[in-house]
Amino acid sequence: MIPISARLLCCASMVKGDYVCDIGTDHALLPVYLIRSGRCSRVLATDVKQGPLQAAAQTLKRYDLLDTIQLCLSDGLAKVPDAGITDLVIAGMGGETIRDILSSSKAKWVQRGTNLVLQPMTKAELLRSWLAENGFAITREAAVRDVHLYTVMQACYTGQPRTLTGVEAYVGKLNIAEPLTRIYISIVLERLGKRLDGLTTSGADEDAADVRALIDGINQWMQP
Ligand SMILES: C[S@@+](CC[C@H](N)C(=O)[O-])C[C@H]1O[C@@H](n2cnc3c(N)ncnc32)[C@H](O)[C@@H]1O
Repeated sequence: MIPISARLLCCASMVKGDYVCDIGTDHALLPVYLIRSGRCSRVLATDVKQGPLQAAAQTLKRYDLLDTIQLCLSDGLAKVPDAGITDLVIAGMGGETIRDILSSSKAKWVQRGTNLVLQPMTKAELLRSWLAENGFAITREAAVRDVHLYTVMQACYTGQPRTLTGVEAYVGKLNIAEPLTRIYISIVLERLGKRLDGLTTSGADEDAADVRALIDGINQWMQP
């Protein structure tokens, strides 16, 4: 049994191809799960820091996978080779960090049909907006219950940039018919409500009106 969280299991369920690159692997539990479950046959696991990579090596040793899963010290995609990677997983980081990793990358293969599996811990709306503006489409998204509620999204490059509305940036491709979506969005609304209170108290009327309109729009999206 691999002690993998519901959050990482959801990421694994969105892997489509046979060669996965896991950026910011840390403990390397996702790569181990992917190989052991037969979900894919090759994994390149990277991290920007030596400490996490050492932890990853320990995990691979424990599961006897040191010869199967490749480890690589890399800031984002900088040292990741163009070697037929089918899926790119970036999980467990802030939405801004995931966005920065993708935006600073010069790796053209990411735009050649690569399946992106992205799991932002915060600021998912910034990541969704960046993806849309840079020609990536979110094809599937699911809320998952773990320590907190998280969202996991699957995206790919279409080459057709678009600007999302505020509501689209906040709800992404979440399916309102799924019960966890309602809970996830109600937490988003709670956070926006607090922001609105702060703006109203400080007299920032124009910003407050924008946030109120956004809250109204999201509430409408939630209606059956
Ligand atoms: C909280 S851990 C998440 C581990 C695992 N992906 C998960 O979801 O459970 C975040 C990891 O991302 C790594 N990281 C942060 N920025 C990175 C970057 N620019 N490139 C590669 N790894 C990065 C950190 O060193 C850390 O090990």
